[in-house]
Amino acid sequence: MSTETFSPGLEGVVAGKTAICCVDQGKLLYRGYPISELAEHVVYAEVAHLLLYGELPTKKQLVDFRTMLDGFHGLPKPVIDAIRLIPRDVPMMDVLRTGVSMAGHFDPVKGTSLDDQRRRAVWLIAVCSDVVSTRYRLLQGKEPVAPKPGIRHAAQILLMSHGSEADETSIKLLDLTLTLYAEHEFNASTFTNRVIASTMSNMVSAVTGAIGALKGPLHGGANEEAMELILRFKNAQEAGAWVNDALAKKEKIMGFGHRVYKNGDHRAHILEREMRKLAEVKGRQDLVAVYDAIKNPIVSKDKPIYPNVDYPCGLTYYLLGLPLDLYTPLFVCSRVTGWCAHFIEQQSDNRIYRPLSQYTGPAERRVQPIDQRG
Ligand SMILES: CC(C)(COP(=O)(O)OP(=O)(O)OC[C@H]1O[C@@H](n2cnc3c(N)ncnc32)[C@H](O)[C@@H]1OP(=O)(O)O)[C@@H](O)C(=O)NCCC(=O)NCCS
Repeated sequence: MSTETFSPGLEGVVAGKTAICCVDQGKLLYRGYPISELAEHVVYAEVAHLLLYGELPTKKQLVDFRTMLDGFHGLPKPVIDAIRLIPRDVPMMDVLRTGVSMAGHFDPVKGTSLDDQRRRAVWLIAVCSDVVSTRYRLLQGKEPVAPKPGIRHAAQILLMSHGSEADETSIKLLDLTLTLYAEHEFNASTFTNRVIASTMSNMVSAVTGAIGALKGPLHGGANEEAMELILRFKNAQEAGAWVNDALAKKEKIMGFGHRVYKNGDHRAHILEREMRKLAEVKGRQDLVAVYDAIKNPIVSKDKPIYPNVDYPCGLTYYLLGLPLDLYTPLFVCSRVTGWCAHFIEQQSDNRIYRPLSQYTGPAERRVQPIDQRG
């Protein structure tokens, strides 16, 4: 008798063990710490240290970590030249995938010891934000900006994109989204990354593959699509009418639903609260009214579907004045840390991923040589 189980999309399947992150109905923990406490008390560099090294850094470790990250900023000239050659209309996520892959040819870390892999991960954090900010500037006819040592990673991304230091509110909110996006267990892109790691391939290949997976609108691409949806409506009435119609037609609404969370996404609660404060400061209650007009009918259905982190994130980034094409790439700038932590964990206790499939093709048949096929 067959012991195989069929689970489309691997739903409900435990495909591996991890000490990095726990995603449960009631909680989200990074290495044991609740996301709400991390969101309140630490900055992204501390989260990155926690995910890669297993513990929150001491003050000295944080300085050392930042020094290492600062030292890795600045793309090699051939990578900048390659980014220049990519046609203007290519989406930023595709540029990021190519940029990371190209930068991989100039990997400054040579070995594969645990320390080398952690340093390579820190280098990849710098590469991702450098590719995004470089491309953003080149599209505006401007040259890349040098990093400023010792500042928060969110501040660095904004400085290297805009060419001037950002205000504290923007830095704080971008930093919060980076913390919330940093890690989420065996989601599609992390699983892609772990599958590549399980072949004992290299870290750059795994991150490049993961970027491809994150791009899709059912995964990271949802933050951009959720904001595009909000911008489609002139007011709350229009949005409300549309959403009721969409629900009746069983359309998927971007930024809602989750494979694991069925009672709401912790990250969405945290970010929505901050987004509302920001909207008030910016005087954009009109956008929040549309946001609520889309959300309310979905969460008050008989079978409610709750916003995931991408729904408030789209509007947060919009209120911060960031262009839509940067939303999912900023997700990468954060999640690259989680991917690299999983890469290291996978290779430290590896078993290659190789599930089975259910064959639905033709029954066995005989090959006819070409001159008998008519
Ligand atoms: C995230 C997602 C891919 C999870 O998919 P899943 O686990 O396969 O969930 P299902 O598609 O089986 O959804 C279960 C039910 O909720 C409904 N549902 C799920 N997400 C929905 C959404 N965003 N809008 C409307 N209905 C949704 C499904 O239609 C289904 O209804 P049914 O039981 O009446 O058929 C899915 O919710 C989705 O596509 N969301 C939109 C994209 C998104 O925001 N992605 C970011 C995720 S962090």
